[in-house]
Amino acid sequence: MNYSTITPITKHIPANRQGAKRHYGLHPYFTRRPFNVVRDYILHYSDKGDTVIDPFGGSGVTAIEAFLENRIGVQNDINPLANFIASGIVELTKISFNDIFDNLKIIENECKEILINIFQSSGSEIDIYSFNVDLPDNITLPSNSDVERYFDLFTPQQLVSLAILKNQINKIDNPSIRQVFLLAWSSTIARINKTFISTKGRVETRGGSSIFSIYRYKVAKDVVELNPWECFYNRFSNIIRAKKEMMNSIELKQKKGEWQGQFKIYKLDVNELRDLYYESADYIFTDPPYGGHISYIDLSILWNSWLGLMPNDELRQKEIIVGGELKFTEQHYINRLKDSIKACFDMLKNGRWLSIVFQHWNVEYFETILTAAQDSNAELKAAVSQIGDPIWSMHKKKGKESVLAGEFILTFYKTTRIKGVKEEREIDVRGIIAKILQDYKEPTIYGEYLFNQLIIEAWKYGIIKELKIKKEDLIDLLSEYGWTYDNRNHCWCKSNKRQDYLF
Ligand SMILES: C[S@@+](CC[C@H](N)C(=O)[O-])C[C@H]1O[C@@H](n2cnc3c(N)ncnc32)[C@H](O)[C@@H]1O
Repeated sequence: MNYSTITPITKHIPANRQGAKRHYGLHPYFTRRPFNVVRDYILHYSDKGDTVIDPFGGSGVTAIEAFLENRIGVQNDINPLANFIASGIVELTKISFNDIFDNLKIIENECKEILINIFQSSGSEIDIYSFNVDLPDNITLPSNSDVERYFDLFTPQQLVSLAILKNQINKIDNPSIRQVFLLAWSSTIARINKTFISTKGRVETRGGSSIFSIYRYKVAKDVVELNPWECFYNRFSNIIRAKKEMMNSIELKQKKGEWQGQFKIYKLDVNELRDLYYESADYIFTDPPYGGHISYIDLSILWNSWLGLMPNDELRQKEIIVGGELKFTEQHYINRLKDSIKACFDMLKNGRWLSIVFQHWNVEYFETILTAAQDSNAELKAAVSQIGDPIWSMHKKKGKESVLAGEFILTFYKTTRIKGVKEEREIDVRGIIAKILQDYKEPTIYGEYLFNQLIIEAWKYGIIKELKIKKEDLIDLLSEYGWTYDNRNHCWCKSNKRQDYLF
């Protein structure tokens, strides 16, 4: 493969979030990337047998897709829950259907009836200590939670039912089979706890935990008691579908004698991963933490604690976030983001590509990424707004105030000769926006596209540091230049009113 002649992807790829059972509906995680977009990028920028790394791997979409596409997929994440999900999915490919169904039969015989009896009893009859099962530690939750202690996240029925199931799963000798069942159990916890909120107007089983929607432990006003056995069984069915789907993909390649996929996994800070993979990656696709809002490790306590995977303090100190229980500052985040992006480029071979997904209305974060890339001799070749994704549309429904939603994919090429950015010019933000709109010939424009172009142009002109534009300013400027917001299609439309951009 001649990597230097690859034409970069410059158009957005419609996201198919629900298209792969191996990712969708298997186990929730934060900001999971649409598998088809990730896969298309991997296929475009790398070759069979190549090493594809995701240093901020999350639930493992990149490394799993790379593995299934005959590459060496390298998953890394500091959060044990992320690696538990990713490795559990890959473990599915190593065990037989017979092993799975034999063990399911045993669990069903031992647990189903007890769980249904508990479900039908009233909570007050239940003494959680009267069951001969291990309970999790009743640890203190993050300070922004609605409740103080771990047990407060469950009704007595929920806590005991989950404990009985886990107790039975722990009896499975084979570690791969045990992990697959624990994955179904762990996915069950996401629904069998008091943070689960049913979606309005849908059956009560449809919904999700507040942990993934508002990023804190908010307890539902009216707790929904779902049937734990049914829930576990449904989660388990999703796992079987995921296995079938992955086996089809692998067996097809095996038949042709082409199968060579590998999967490797690490729980390291991205800087430590650099030492292991220095200049070894053929392609990197990654989605670094976005700063505020999501404290991955705090929010994963629900799982990490009961699974016995709690990260130690040393690891927690390395998480790249703003805030959280350790109250990391914004400056700390920016410094760490810069170092970690450099670490990513250090892992990349020369003459190879790297894509970073990012979403944030903070130009300083973009500047940090772009500067780190430049310091690493990497040239920005494409910046794509992933508009049109269902999650994007959901945010956009809030109206024009949310002028920006969705994600950008910035793609770089690492070289030994880097073109510097232009010297500072006599141009300001207003001027750049005016120029972009002037050059833009379509009747409608997405705010995301405009912002994207603005970042890139400001970068090229060397004025990104001055780019302190607020959302409101962008709205005002667009209105001033005669564009109106179309609430239905979530974009801006050119009106005939005024087209003199005055620059
Ligand atoms: C935006 S999420 C990635 C989600 C992923 N793209 C997916 O599809 O599931 C960012 C990830 O970075 C991880 N992370 C935070 N600090 C880290 C560090 N210092 N080293 C490695 N991973 C880190 C978080 O645990 C989180 O899973």
